[in-house]
Amino acid sequence: ATRPPSVLSIQSHVVHGYVGNKCAVLPLNLLGFEVDPINSVQFSNHTGYPTKSGTVGTGKDLWDLVTGLQENQLLNYTHLLTGYIGSETLLETIAKTIKAIREVNPDATYVCDPVMGDSALGEDGRMYVSKGLLGVYRDLIIPLATVITPNQYEAELLSGRTIKTQKDAVEVCRDLRQRGPTTVVITSLHLESDPNTLIILATTSHEQETGSSQELRLVLPRKKAYFTGTGDLLSALLLAWLHKHPSNLKLAVELAIAGLQAVLGRTIAAAGDAVTATELSSEVMRARELRLVESLHLLPKPDVQYHAEPA
Ligand code: ATP
Ligand code: PLP
Ligand code: MG
Ligand code: NA
Ligand code: MG
Repeated sequence: ATRPPSVLSIQSHVVHGYVGNKCAVLPLNLLGFEVDPINSVQFSNHTGYPTKSGTVGTGKDLWDLVTGLQENQLLNYTHLLTGYIGSETLLETIAKTIKAIREVNPDATYVCDPVMGDSALGEDGRMYVSKGLLGVYRDLIIPLATVITPNQYEAELLSGRTIKTQKDAVEVCRDLRQRGPTTVVITSLHLESDPNTLIILATTSHEQETGSSQELRLVLPRKKAYFTGTGDLLSALLLAWLHKHPSNLKLAVELAIAGLQAVLGRTIAAAGDAVTATELSSEVMRARELRLVESLHLLPKPDVQYHAEPA
């Protein structure tokens, strides 16, 4: 019998709350994937809280685990998924890891969320990893990735171009696809022409089922709040649905966004006033944590309300 698809997921772990592996493991399990998590950091809580404590993994820590898996012929994965990576040496070791995975399975898919920052955080907080990571992502990681899920700011950093219009974004995606990835999804575009919408731009070089475009956009109403963990949940859901529908980017993106919006809807309903609170106390942060457990049952058959169209 064939085994289910299997994911090595290298992301953050938080004790309380939902970011990183806490957003990836359960949803992927539920959608039929085996998931082996490696925690890139282990923190008490996500970094949006007033304080946090914990430890940051090094490249050596990762390589110790990878060689242990190798020794027991366990480095046998259909997918690698990576998210927040805090240091250059860890990111360099991820490049070694995907190469080692592909020695076992040359067809392994690498879904990379190149987490570096977010312009939504304003001038000061934009880049929340060390500046040295950009060069490693651009020169070492992107050429190895199959699917990348940058936000607008990360797409700008990786391409060295500013995105002002949707046309700019489509061109940036083409540029990034020429460097290796088959599929590029800009997970949130915020265009000046349309401040109240959030655009997801999904593009692929992979041949599509007849009639479906390889460059798509999906437009959502932008909610006036900042959530944490949504980017990580989206990359996990994209991995799952792209695997199930390899030649139907439109359907894969619609299903991933539908699942995410279901979680977001429950989160907003449960958070009440905390959604729009400007004071970022731990109480507010806690109230805004994704209501993932309460929404899990919606993920396998999400109700698609937003449709993608040719970009
Ligand atoms: P990264 O994790 O690479 O930083 P990102 O910045 O795009 O990615 P988010 O800003 O969390 O991650 O957005 C991911 C998805 O979460 C969006 O595509 C959207 O579906 C949903 N989302 C996040 N914030 C909002 C919002 N304010 N209103 C509506 N949807 C949102
Ligand atoms: N990992 C950690 C430890 C974080 O603190 C955060 C955000 O604060 C994230 C990951 C990313 O979350 P998101 O999915 O919102 O990009
Ligand atoms: Mg964001
Ligand atoms: Na993203
Ligand atoms: Mg993120």
